[in-house]
Amino acid sequence: MKSITHDHNQSIQDVYHVLKGQNKKYHISTFGCQMNDHDSEKMAGLLETMGYQFTDQENEADFILFNTCAVRENAELRVFGNIGRMKPLKQAKPDLIVGVCGCMMQQDHMIEAIKTKYPYVDLVFGTHNLSAIPDFVRRVMIEKERVIEVEPDGALVEGLPVVRHLEVKAFVTIMQGCDNFCSYCIVPYTRGREKSRQPEAILEEIRGLVEQGVKEVTLLGQNVNSYGKGLDPAMDFADLLELVNQIPGLERIRFMTSHPKDLTDHLIQAMTLSKVMPTIHLPAQSGSNAVLKAMNRKYTREDYLDLVAKLRAVVPNIAITTDLIIGFPGETDQDVTDMIELIRQVGFDAAFTFIYSPRIGTPAARMIDTISSPQKHARFERMLEELNQIVIAKNKAREGQVFEVLIEGPQERSSDYQGRTREDFLVTFPAEKADIGQLRQVRISKARKFSLEGELV
Ligand code: SAH
Ligand code: SF4
Ligand code: F3S
Repeated sequence: MKSITHDHNQSIQDVYHVLKGQNKKYHISTFGCQMNDHDSEKMAGLLETMGYQFTDQENEADFILFNTCAVRENAELRVFGNIGRMKPLKQAKPDLIVGVCGCMMQQDHMIEAIKTKYPYVDLVFGTHNLSAIPDFVRRVMIEKERVIEVEPDGALVEGLPVVRHLEVKAFVTIMQGCDNFCSYCIVPYTRGREKSRQPEAILEEIRGLVEQGVKEVTLLGQNVNSYGKGLDPAMDFADLLELVNQIPGLERIRFMTSHPKDLTDHLIQAMTLSKVMPTIHLPAQSGSNAVLKAMNRKYTREDYLDLVAKLRAVVPNIAITTDLIIGFPGETDQDVTDMIELIRQVGFDAAFTFIYSPRIGTPAARMIDTISSPQKHARFERMLEELNQIVIAKNKAREGQVFEVLIEGPQERSSDYQGRTREDFLVTFPAEKADIGQLRQVRISKARKFSLEGELV
């Protein structure tokens, strides 16, 4: 495709020449967030340009790639378990190429672990040099090199071919990296500094998606609220929303993630744009000012509650979801009570809840952690119980109401179809194939624990 650099084109030609007629297959396992999903789509695009074909069966593949996530320890353990499974496959098929990339590989101790403990991994690269995959594969396949190449940071790369599993909705990355350095978080180290894509490139991508039938886009970044830093001419995220809102044929706009410290009045006003959905994912992380300070989140509990009030004043039915971390070093019982109080005061529509996981290289990993694991789990259960009660009660109150739903497709395990309301609530209902991609009204007949059942009206 148009803007792949000359070197990559040469590598693509070389590998294509070797693979031609051989029917070689690739398999990518993706861990972590939508940033990684999108990176995997780009790598799939490059691999297919090189002549590889996709397979969902690992044992059929000639190239297996793990795109890893480093956000919590359990994500990393899962990856190591999966890489371990490659040993017998590699023994049975010595030509198999095994690659590991993504956020875990941006950490020196992880590269070292792969180098020493997993000799059957042929290729390691990071989040900043994935567009060089044609050259890496050429070197492993043709030069028989073990390639280990990770860059600490890198520029935005536009115009790579992308393999997308297109549905009625799509994710569009608007920026990469993060400058916030929340004290517990590895992402600024694995994804580098914040860089915003040019608005024109984003708009062109969305127009292209709409032409292919996409009705809803979710604009993605670690902190979309700070979109636009460094762009010339200057613009902010609300300006971008205004531009996206004008795209003909696009029905719905969502975005994530929003950092409370950057949620401006301008952006709150932009929530009233006709295509911007009444929903926001606004991670609170904690309800205690002491913990928020230690987390380097740069807002207080009161600031958070003020934002919620402002959002509800502008968009009364807005659905608010969040992320919460239990067990941060030094957390007291009172801090947990404060978190529960915040959950009650806001009345979240959903929350992702995590037990704190120390990440090597982050400031929090150097803090003294006095909370035992059983204590963390007990606090987690206490918080989850409160949260579930609230979420389930809110869901129950939706019985009998009518919502506009974008019909996405059949459900995996039933004959029903599924879709999402404007607020992003998941609804299942009987429908037909021809309804896919349609916006329809659905009356809720029954609230299940975390989803809704209904009928088209
Ligand atoms: N940029 C986004 C989310 C990034 S990671 C944001 O700031 O909201 C997604 C979530 O993982 C975070 O919101 C946080 O709740 C959680 N998380 C990140 N690092 C963690 C850690 N070390 N331990 C436990 N949870 C963590
Ligand atoms: Fe991590 Fe904080 Fe950046 Fe989110 S805003 S990615 S939690 S450092
Ligand atoms: Fe994980 Fe990297 Fe995303 S650490 S959460 S895959 S940015």
